[in-house]
Amino acid sequence: MASLAVFLGRILSLFMFTCACIAETSFRPKALLLPVIKDSSTNQYVTQISQRTPLVPIKLTLDLGGESLWVDCDKDYISSTYKPVHCRSSLCSLVKTPVGCGGQCFSSPKPGCNNNSCSVFPENSVSGVSTIGELAKDVVSIHSTDGSNLGPVVSFPRLVFTCGATFLLEKLANGVKGMAGFGRSPIGLPSQLSHAFRFPRKFAICLSSSTTSNGVIFLGDGPYVMLPNVDISQSLTYTPLIVNPVSVPGTTVKGQNPSFEYYIGVKGIKVNTKVVPVNTTLFKINKLGFGGTRISTTVPYTVLESSIYNAVTNAFISSISKVPRVKAVAPFKACYSAKSLGSTRLGPGVPSIEFVLQNKRSVSWMFFGANSMVPVKDDVFCLGFVDGGLDTKEASITIGGYQLENALLQFDLARSRLGFMSTILGRQTTCANFNFTSKA
Ligand SMILES: *[C@@H]1O[C@H](CO)[C@@H](O)[C@H](O)[C@H]1NC(C)=O
Ligand SMILES: *[C@@H]1O[C@H](CO)[C@@H](O)[C@H](O)[C@H]1NC(C)=O
Ligand SMILES: *[C@@H]1O[C@H](CO)[C@@H](O)[C@H](O)[C@H]1NC(C)=O
Repeated sequence: MASLAVFLGRILSLFMFTCACIAETSFRPKALLLPVIKDSSTNQYVTQISQRTPLVPIKLTLDLGGESLWVDCDKDYISSTYKPVHCRSSLCSLVKTPVGCGGQCFSSPKPGCNNNSCSVFPENSVSGVSTIGELAKDVVSIHSTDGSNLGPVVSFPRLVFTCGATFLLEKLANGVKGMAGFGRSPIGLPSQLSHAFRFPRKFAICLSSSTTSNGVIFLGDGPYVMLPNVDISQSLTYTPLIVNPVSVPGTTVKGQNPSFEYYIGVKGIKVNTKVVPVNTTLFKINKLGFGGTRISTTVPYTVLESSIYNAVTNAFISSISKVPRVKAVAPFKACYSAKSLGSTRLGPGVPSIEFVLQNKRSVSWMFFGANSMVPVKDDVFCLGFVDGGLDTKEASITIGGYQLENALLQFDLARSRLGFMSTILGRQTTCANFNFTSKA
């Protein structure tokens, strides 16, 4: 609790900081919009932001729990508006693990290399690698939206980000130059942009399953309108977002700061509406920060701790024991021919898998065929959950990208709650259905 109070205090002091640098634009948008495309070779979700002076479009892998935006500053970073953050500034003290003054840089000053700048640890959450880098500010520009079309581009002159290095890009999708951190951090993109433009501290992701049509991220409140004129911001179900009081991944000094990741309180799992017997202790975050249920856009398929994985997989297999299984395709276990499953509007016809969030009001996150069954080759679908092993120093459940596609997730940071619709396919639309035509 003490660390949470400190954390909130830090956020408050950042507000004072950002309020001094309101976007230099007369138009104040109600919301912003970023396109997101699924990369077919890595299954990463890639967005694009324009940064620097002159502006260049930068592709970034979406990192839902990431502390901030980081980009490669080693290669091709040219900008007349780049400003390093000084190591003795109040902004530097807001960062998770500032290592203090960067000391001396033995070359002429350039992005990523300035004397006495604030040194931090940008992390590639796909590879788990991090490095020392410089905290900096530069211009970014992003499309605004009225919820149903693109609006004017707005620019934010001093977005705080971290300088990564070229080697830190390893394992990221082709063409990507960094990661877009949407974590619950004072320098995360949602906090910075909502304060700059004074819209509610909320953002929503709607990931498309297509590798050729964009899904969307809305920063700010609804409406979120998809063709044919469906406002998917209506009819959300809410569940509390849980703060993990201990940061686990990366180089963080354990126990120092709350994690920036988004956790929810799964209390039970059902397959075909029947409770699956699992050790419920695993659903809680323990003193070391392990366990619990996290949502991640950098994990392609939901990862379950081994005992949960086995219980869910066995329950699934026995609930459709009449359907013949076909040879398993790694990393999956339960595979079936598409023909024998048949299809529905919500994907292959299989029993639902349900993450129970609140027993009393029967709030559940439901996974139907489109989110549970992965097409692995012609005519074969496999149950798309993977085994995380027994000795997991991680969350017990990490809900991954495939299970988030064509769902709407609204992260409300001010109220610390998640609004979700586990599939929008039932509303006769998809996350690839935003109308990207600008309204004049
Ligand atoms: C940093 O300081 C050292 C020593 O004063 C100097 O030689 C070097 O040029 C400076 N580098 C930058 C990037 O300012
Ligand atoms: C349940 O899981 C916890 C945490 O891993 C473990 O300490 C406990 O022994 C388990 N209980 C049972 C009954 O297996
Ligand atoms: C997309 O939006 C534009 C601008 O509002 C509109 O003219 C067009 O009809 C829309 N497209 C569809 C398919 O509705």
